[in-house]
This record gives sequence, structure tokens and C-alpha cells, in this order.
Amino acid sequence: MLENAKHIYLNNAATTWPKPEIVYQTVDDCFRHLASPGRSAGASGSEGAAIMQAARQEVAAFFNLPDAMQMVFMPSCTYALNLAILCQQWRADEEVVMSSMEHHAVSRPVRKVARDHGVRFYCAPYRPTEPFDLNFLEERLRGGRVKLVACSMASNLTGDIMPVHEIGRLCRQYGAKFLLDAAQAAGVIPVDVQAIGADFLAFAGHKGLFGPPGIGGLYVAPGINLNTLAEGGTGKDSGLHEMSGRFPSNFEVGTHNLLGICGLTAGVRWINQVTLAAIREREHRLTELFVAGLQEVPGLRIYGNPDLTKRTAVVSLTCAGQCTPHQLADWLAKEHGVVTRSGYHCAPLAHETIGTLPGEGTIRFSLGYHNTEEEVRLVSGLVADFVAKPQAVAVR
Ligand SMILES: Cc1ncc(COP(=O)(O)O)c(C=O)c1O
Repeated sequence: MLENAKHIYLNNAATTWPKPEIVYQTVDDCFRHLASPGRSAGASGSEGAAIMQAARQEVAAFFNLPDAMQMVFMPSCTYALNLAILCQQWRADEEVVMSSMEHHAVSRPVRKVARDHGVRFYCAPYRPTEPFDLNFLEERLRGGRVKLVACSMASNLTGDIMPVHEIGRLCRQYGAKFLLDAAQAAGVIPVDVQAIGADFLAFAGHKGLFGPPGIGGLYVAPGINLNTLAEGGTGKDSGLHEMSGRFPSNFEVGTHNLLGICGLTAGVRWINQVTLAAIREREHRLTELFVAGLQEVPGLRIYGNPDLTKRTAVVSLTCAGQCTPHQLADWLAKEHGVVTRSGYHCAPLAHETIGTLPGEGTIRFSLGYHNTEEEVRLVSGLVADFVAKPQAVAVR
């Protein structure tokens, strides 16, 4: 159980913690007072429906979506990405290009369409200073077979920010669809779907948007036809035997997660108040401090772009010859209550790309708005201490 007094939480890329107080209050209030939208007579049901409608508008405005009704609430970013990738009509002569840093939530569904439909996929080469090779993309696009380009806006492993505006421009030029995975970007850096020119945007509610788990969403540009990922009751068009085909209800099956939707909206409102610029500035400052504190640690290697302005507040590292990522993570957690994540971070493709698979992956420190400078200094000092200890090697 996480308690403020005992933990230093540096695992915000997995899920942010703590949430702003207003998010806890809103979820509690919603749980006590609202009934299921589209499935209840009376005031609490219609209030639920109105709240959901307002939530859809607010989330859509946050991402500058051209049409809020094209945004589907989903149980997670993973489901959103699966809908966008698996539910297109694929032909064997079509291709997908993705980055070399993708999370399983993109790479596994892409592998599935390759397996099921014979589609070929390619990974754009990565360099820390150029995390997505645009020349490679253009070359493939020129071939005329690329149907989909899928890319996380920021890597969950290194924090590298991808050149998504350029990718969007190339996709428009050559007529490919662009799927943007904003799991690590939403609430961290600006995500303007119209400026980027994305055809799909997938996001998670529980990370940078400070909502609860169990909620995310997918925006689909008008005119794109998707098959359904699941079918069932939508609370609308109840007299029809088949799905209506209408956005967004065609893809929002089963009772809505109204608690999640309310909590997500509270998170988005809180971000708008604090401002994204202030969040970014604070997280950047903390990252600079943290990385500065690690500079002199022997054997330590930090992955990703050395220019921290081109990264989020995610710092992945190894201490070759000194200790494994797991040893360091275990020691930090058990002895000092520091929460990090070690291993492969659901992104073996990204670990292969940076050279930590084969191997034991990295330890990832993901800082957040609620961390303090004191915490960050303390943890970089602890890392230095542990790496300097002879027992760091002995406990391997
Ligand atoms: C880049 C990226 N994409 C997608 C996801 C999936 O998000 P969720 O677990 O909320 O479905 C994650 C989660 O860590 C992620 O980091």
C-alpha cells in the first residue's frame, strides 16, 4: 500500500501517483450519486448521461479533436490501440511502419495483423538523437503500400519524444493513416491532434491525465471504417438486433465506466488549471536534477537522447558490472521505499533497440509533477551509494 510518508514514487510512467485530491473526490462523489447513462430512468441517469457528454467534450478539447463524437471511451489505451489496429480491413499486400521503441500495446496487435492477414511490418530505425528515422519512413511510403504508421509520441522506456508532426505530414503527403499512441505524452507534453494530423489517437486515463485506471480512449478521424472489437448493449438503439454503426456508441459496449470517465475529466480539468506548461517545466527541472546527480556514478549508463528537452521525465539506466537493474530496484524499494520499475517495461522491442535485451533490461525512474527536488536528490544519491558498494556485485 502506498503511503505518502513511506514512499518515494518514481513509477509515474506506469501510472501516476498520487492523483490530485479533486480526482479522488470526484470519483467518490460519482460512485455515490450517479447511475448508468442510457440505462436508468430519472434524474441520476440523465445526470450521468449529461456528465458523460460534457466529459467527452472536455477530453476532445484537451486534444484539439475536430469532432468530440469521434472519440470513443475505452477500458484502456491498450484496448484503444487494439481497436485501431486489429479492426481495420487488412489486405496481404499492405504494410505497417512503427517505431523501434513501441510498447506491446502497439507491437503485439501489429504482429497479430501480420500473422492473420499476411501484412508486412517495418520498424523505423532509432538513434538516441533521432528516435524515428524519417527518411526510412518516406522511403517505405513511396512504395505505396503503407496503410498505417503507428508510433508512441514518447517512449515509455527512454522518454524520447518522437517527431510526430513530421510523421503526420509524411502520412498525409503519401495517403497513409497515422495512429498516435499518446499513453506517455498526454498530460506531459501538448498533444494537438489537428496540428499533428493524426488519424487515430489512443490515450490512457491513469497516466499523465491523472485519472483512475480502467479508462482510456480512441479518436478516429471521420470517414474511417472500423470493425467492432466487441459487440453488445450500448444503451442506445436498443431495439436493433445489430450494432448501429454510429459513433461513438458502436464501440462503447457494456455499461460505461462512469467513475473512470468522471475521474479522467477531473484530471484533465486539474491539468488545465495548473497548465501543461507548468507541469512540463517542473518535470523537466526534476529530470535535470536527477540526471545531474547521476553524472559521476561509475559504470552507469543512461539511455535515450542526451538532450533532456527532447524527452519526458523518464530515465532508464543500467550499471554494467556493478549491479543488475533488479538488484538496484529491489534495494531501493526494500531499504528506502523508492518505487521504480526494472526489467523490460512491456517493450522488448525497445529494449532490443537500445541493446538491453538480451540482458536484464533497465531500471526505469519515471518522475512526476508531485515529486520534489529533495526526493530526486535523495534517490540519485542512493543510486550512487549502491553502485559504489562492493556488495552491489556480491548480491548478484
Ligand atoms: C507507450 C505506451 N503505450 C500503451 C500503453 C498501454 O497503456 P494501458 O496499460 O493503460 O493500456 C502504455 C502503458 O504503459 C505505454 O507506456
